[in-house]
Amino acid sequence: MKTLVTLYSAILLAGIAVGPCGAVEGTQGYRDEINRPPEPWKGPPRSGEQVYAQYCGACHARTTQGAPMPDDDIEWGMRARQGLKVLMEHTIGGYRQQLMPPRGGCENCSDAELKAAVLYILKQSGIEPDAKGKL
Ligand code: HEC
Repeated sequence: MKTLVTLYSAILLAGIAVGPCGAVEGTQGYRDEINRPPEPWKGPPRSGEQVYAQYCGACHARTTQGAPMPDDDIEWGMRARQGLKVLMEHTIGGYRQQLMPPRGGCENCSDAELKAAVLYILKQSGIEPDAKGKL
């Protein structure tokens, strides 16, 4: 009986010793994954439509994410009044406690590609910059 109890405690202790260790490793793996630098984009510059389809649409094409839909001309009409410069600052830096993530989630997009995506979204709402680039 005594051996059984000792054996049992040994197993229990081993479990406790291993447990937290495994948890730390698991979390570290996750951290490494999210901190991994983005793969650089080596292809030709992507069009606004391509960037939108691959990244922005994940939120902006659905009503459930709180992100304004591209053809919502009332929403975009109000947002466009801030001007393209501010819209780009919010796109690059993220907006509203990162509900809108920095770079719209496309870490390897250039600023020009992001701008093309914003202009593509605005165009769906009939908003286009004038010759001076003013919305
Ligand atoms: C994870 C979801 C998500 C993704 C992906 C995303 N957005 Fe957004 N975006 C949002 C949300 C939510 C808002 C609205 C935030 C608010 O005003 O409450 C928003 C707002 C915006 C705005 C308006 C900012 C303002 O000043 O009113 C722009 C411009 C924008 N997104 C561009 C983009 C572009 C371009 C991409 C792709 C490169 C993109 N977003 C990807 C969630 C997302």
